[in-house]
Amino acid sequence: MSGKHLTRRRFVGKTAAAASALTLSGPTILAPSAAEAGKPAILGGVPVRKAKFPEWPVIGEGDDAAWLEVFHAKGWYRGKAVAEFQKKFAALCGAKYCQAVNGGTTALWTSLVALGVGPGDEVLVPPFTFVATVNVVLLQYAIPVFVDTDRETFQMDHRKIEARITERTRAIIPVHLGGAPANMDAILAIAKKHNLAVIEDACQAHLAEWRGKKVGSLGDTGCFSFQVSKNLSSGDGGAILTNDDGVMERCFSFHTNGRERKNTPEFAAMHNGTNARMTEFQATLLLRGLTRIEQQMKTREQNAAYLSDQIKDVAGLRPTQTYEGVTRHAYHLYMMRYDPEGFGGLTRAQFAAALTAEGVPIRTGYGPLNKAPFIEQELRSRHFQRIYSREYVDNYFKNNECPENDRLCAGEALWFTQPMLLGSRADMDQIAAAIRKVQANAADIKKAGSALEKVKVIDV
Ligand SMILES: Cc1ncc(COP(=O)(O)O)c(C=O)c1O
Repeated sequence: MSGKHLTRRRFVGKTAAAASALTLSGPTILAPSAAEAGKPAILGGVPVRKAKFPEWPVIGEGDDAAWLEVFHAKGWYRGKAVAEFQKKFAALCGAKYCQAVNGGTTALWTSLVALGVGPGDEVLVPPFTFVATVNVVLLQYAIPVFVDTDRETFQMDHRKIEARITERTRAIIPVHLGGAPANMDAILAIAKKHNLAVIEDACQAHLAEWRGKKVGSLGDTGCFSFQVSKNLSSGDGGAILTNDDGVMERCFSFHTNGRERKNTPEFAAMHNGTNARMTEFQATLLLRGLTRIEQQMKTREQNAAYLSDQIKDVAGLRPTQTYEGVTRHAYHLYMMRYDPEGFGGLTRAQFAAALTAEGVPIRTGYGPLNKAPFIEQELRSRHFQRIYSREYVDNYFKNNECPENDRLCAGEALWFTQPMLLGSRADMDQIAAAIRKVQANAADIKKAGSALEKVKVIDV
């Protein structure tokens, strides 16, 4: 087994087969003995659960008919569904405008363009995020400056923002990671003081709230993703919220090849732009999704609270904290911090492999984005060299340290994905039971540790 990469299904299948062989040799053929049930699945015992967690995306009654209506009417392009979605999403989030686009990445990129961020500018970003938050800064030939992470919350540490501001800084991109809002009071105050734009990356935080206001409506723009894993999904898709008329018009223009709303003689009133338009098919799925998003939010909230209560006494595993101003967590991720001490010295990788083998898939979060090799490749490229001196770039890498984030990425961050929170109370009980089982057997699992380390459980 050593050195092999197993998918979760193949791995669980293998361990489950070993367990049933054991069961056949015992006196009770159908039910596993207490000892076998207590034996960790990663060591050949019976997994706590074999059932799947709820599927995502959800297809609701009538979704197919709505989708086919667009299909048959051939109104595939810039019709009433996109317009209706924009209106409804802006109203739901308490923003003046919504510009639908084709992804969260293009929502962020369009925002940077609309807010005038370009070559020579610095943009403050967290290192613990999906890569798109940083891709877009580099696409504008601007510099992503990383602000270390608050390990209690997994968010950009607002206490470390000001130290990273220079005369080049133009914008901050706080990411509401996992659906939990970043500290928006602090971030908005710093932005105001230093005259910086705030682009909220709310790609994982649909309907999350800061002091009763929906995230995405608080900064100069708020960006959402409707990629398939997200709490509101159309396969791919995105949206920008803003309360500013000028920003809205610039977003509109950029997302549709630099054209203006009203037809003008060719090229008369044009800017530069791209095509980031949303189709009617995507908007139709989103309108259907909006009919159930609130109910799904409530289910996730209830299950998350219940699960937190079930695992509150588990040493070594702690759900992330939220800031005082958070009035609603969207639970795109149920995030936790791991401490090997609570699990007899099991590494995070061993814990994750053991829990996943119990039928409870868990993920170990992002790597340290500030150290991603492509950033250095970009900054040392011919194009960036024309904009930034070698001294500037050398200095950038000298200061590009996020020690708290390094610790988080190296062995602490863990999360469950949102569809798991759409299950039943019994599902939550099984998650908690699996965690306790791994904890109770930590010493045995640790003994097999070196072999387990080599089993990389993927496809969870
Ligand atoms: C935090 C964050 N930012 C940006 C994105 C990019 O969104 P998309 O995949 O829709 O382009 C995502 C999601 O994938 C994300 O999670």
